[in-house]
Amino acid sequence: MLHEKKKSFPEYFLWGASTSAYQVEGASLLDGKGPSCQDVKKVPDGTSDLTVCADQYHRYKEDIALMAEMGFKTYRFSVSWSRILPEGTGAVNPKGIQYYNDLINECLKYGIEPLVTMFHFDMPAALDRRGSWSNRESVDWFADYAKVLFKNYGDRVKYWLTINEQNMLTLCGPVIGTLTIPEGTTNILKETYQQNHHMLVAQAKAMALCHAMLPKAKIGPAPNISLIYPASCNPKDVLAAQNYNALRNWLYLDMAVYGRYNDLVWAYLEEHDAIPEFIEGDDIVLKSGHPDFIGFNYYNTTTCTWSDSMEAAGSTADQQSAFDIPGFFKGFKNPHLPVTEFGWEIDPEGFRATIREIYSRYHLPMIITENGLGAYDKLTDDGKVHDSYRIEYLRRHIEQMQLAIADGCDMMGYCPWSAIDLISTHEGMVKRYGFIYVDREEFDLKTMDRYRKDSFYWYQKVIATNGQDLSD
Ligand code: BG6
Repeated sequence: MLHEKKKSFPEYFLWGASTSAYQVEGASLLDGKGPSCQDVKKVPDGTSDLTVCADQYHRYKEDIALMAEMGFKTYRFSVSWSRILPEGTGAVNPKGIQYYNDLINECLKYGIEPLVTMFHFDMPAALDRRGSWSNRESVDWFADYAKVLFKNYGDRVKYWLTINEQNMLTLCGPVIGTLTIPEGTTNILKETYQQNHHMLVAQAKAMALCHAMLPKAKIGPAPNISLIYPASCNPKDVLAAQNYNALRNWLYLDMAVYGRYNDLVWAYLEEHDAIPEFIEGDDIVLKSGHPDFIGFNYYNTTTCTWSDSMEAAGSTADQQSAFDIPGFFKGFKNPHLPVTEFGWEIDPEGFRATIREIYSRYHLPMIITENGLGAYDKLTDDGKVHDSYRIEYLRRHIEQMQLAIADGCDMMGYCPWSAIDLISTHEGMVKRYGFIYVDREEFDLKTMDRYRKDSFYWYQKVIATNGQDLSD
């Protein structure tokens, strides 16, 4: 659709940016925090561990002041479950509670609305040892943790996100360091989707609890949605794209919004003897969630072809790379799209298409909880970072989001990844995303001083004009 007039972003639009606890905070075992799966994993060769990260734990005041200077209306951060509950369940860590009280209060001091992710890739290690999401009790572990959060922060936090990228936990857990499969498991697919089922039930419980305990709060999921294109107009490729979309995207949103399994995914799981076990009442819990909005992360689209072969190929795909499922779909490199320095395709129009598709399926307000460009930024001798490539990436995505609004989609906010440089899921500190540069290298912690990148000043202007001025 060509629009003659641009539509403005709504007045209340939540401009901001995102981070996650285990990637930004550091202080990984300080002040009573228990280790998470991220603290005990073997990090990929050549990448930093997660003990210091951007040291936000000690520098949150400076960081929030810089976000306020950019004009943020919201800051999306996550709570570290094992900072609050070092063993994952049971005793609460008062210093952990205090840290997020301080962080939330610091945001509110500047009128920045906290957007809190309850769980972002960091299962307490103590719960990993008890079987992680394979253990049916994980549903109650998460619900109890949710209660602690709502009780302690619900008086000030209006916006909540449940589980960050549950689809990526399920589809590429080993790459992001999160999948624990119990020893002796013979049907790994079944076990993985049983874990996924427990997360789905846990999420629904948390949403219902939030509504019961905090009637004024709003809560939603935060999957990573990447619209899947068929590689050609061959009808078989279209069928493959439907399969891939169902497995990667709609399974998660159909469940969060309608409380039911996607039919194509169910058929695929049946075919592989991998249907998750329900216990009595799960179907009712799953239908009781009702998100108030949809949060989703968008980095790019994915393309696929039909797959005739039933032969499994080993996959090491990360969150944004296409992969194959024999007999279901086969990933395909889209020849129309450029890629980032780290090989992720760049597709701003696909952002508009993804927003439109989600809105037509679910008709809920949407907030972008991640979108951004990872690059090898360089700090110049005079303390500047000339990241025009990031400005270009973000500008083109914001333009498409604005067109999606003109198409009739209901957008409530935009939080690119990331507010500040932090450690990537598997590619270390050198893959930087922030508006704020952190002076450290992969292993040399240097000064940890903060510097404003060119994109910092650009985003400041974007926010000040409510998205009207996207120029350099
Ligand atoms: C998302 C995650 O998948 O992408 C973030 O929610 C992550 O935690 C971001 O950092 C960028 O991915 P990466 O692998 O470049 O860190």
